[in-house]
Amino acid sequence: MPVVPHAQLEAFSQQLLLAAGVPAENAELTARMLLAANLRGIDSHGVHLLSYYLKQIEAGTVHPTHEGRVVSESGACLSYDGENALGQVIARNCCDHAVRLAKEHGLSIVTAREANHFGACFWWAREIARHGMLGFVFCNASTLVSPWQGKQPKYGTNPICLAVPPCGDDGQEPFLLDMATTTVAANKIFKAFINQQPEIPLGWAMDKEGVPTTDTVAAYNGLVSPLGGYKGYGLAMMVEILCSVLGGGALPNDLGGIRFVTKPVRVSHCYIAVDITRFMPLEEFNTRMLALTAIMKATAPAFGFTEVLMAGDPEKRLEAQRLASGIDIPEGNWKDLTDGAARLGVSVPVV
Ligand SMILES: NC(=O)c1ccc[n+]([C@@H]2O[C@H](COP(=O)([O-])OP(=O)(O)OC[C@H]3O[C@@H](n4cnc5c(N)ncnc54)[C@H](O)[C@@H]3O)[C@@H](O)[C@H]2O)c1
Repeated sequence: MPVVPHAQLEAFSQQLLLAAGVPAENAELTARMLLAANLRGIDSHGVHLLSYYLKQIEAGTVHPTHEGRVVSESGACLSYDGENALGQVIARNCCDHAVRLAKEHGLSIVTAREANHFGACFWWAREIARHGMLGFVFCNASTLVSPWQGKQPKYGTNPICLAVPPCGDDGQEPFLLDMATTTVAANKIFKAFINQQPEIPLGWAMDKEGVPTTDTVAAYNGLVSPLGGYKGYGLAMMVEILCSVLGGGALPNDLGGIRFVTKPVRVSHCYIAVDITRFMPLEEFNTRMLALTAIMKATAPAFGFTEVLMAGDPEKRLEAQRLASGIDIPEGNWKDLTDGAARLGVSVPVV
């Protein structure tokens, strides 16, 4: 399995995007945020996604130079049309609007339709939280999950994310919840499939008949399991309502997906920013967050564990490790990326 130093992998990713026609600033942003996911151990949403994005750009289903546009702005509410730009570009523009409006109104809600896959949510929620705000991010996703008690894929892994400040470059990050509303993100199953891993853990997926399976191929061709049964289904519908319904975007039946190269993805996003200083000074909020964290972390560990964590802790710890050790890219994913490089005439780093 190639292990690539993160700076080299980021530069390679940027070159691939530039060669596909993405303007320099947006290529840099996209490469940086995908690498950030790998650094945090969120490999399901790291650089391997580029192989899908590149094929979508080559097929004309993602537009490499579009930026999207504001459809309407009313008080703290803004509606955005992504115009099929790269998901990361739409997300960056929507976060900027969310922060601007929350500074003015105390909070804001921005929806984006006709959007694309924007990678892992944490990056975008953190972009909002960097401004001393609570950053909530949601998106709908291509249909891989069945409504509870059904056996047909009708909605996606619809993630939920909240980043709490301070989220600065000094590594502070009191709480960063970033989760699919399915047991795991679908890309964990796709990744197992691409890399010919025969089994996945029980609980991740069901086969076509809705029967739980650990067989990777059956899972790949089947259904992703909702988180906690009907409760995950309910949370996913909440995301769907905030994103596609409120955003005026495509409903799940009309979505494409990053794996379906020739069909536009058409997902919707939702960004909510809450200016904490409208409730209390930021210092007071930080002190209260530290107190909450201390209560949780003072819990006696259960059998088999040594400590209690807050959301975001596992990823933050891995980041320091991977900055030093480089990033493992499984053979199947590396082949997809280097095939992309060959098509686009980009030289591949020696690993
Ligand atoms: N763009 C999309 O369409 C899309 C769709 C679905 C998921 N995703 C992304 O997939 C990624 C992975 O999602 P996932 O649900 O598989 O994540 P996960 O199950 O690995 O982690 C979910 C959350 O649980 C926290 N956590 C993990 N272990 C913990 C512990 N022991 N104690 C306390 N908290 C703990 C993590 O910090 C994280 O915030 C996310 O970044 C998400 O944004 C993206």
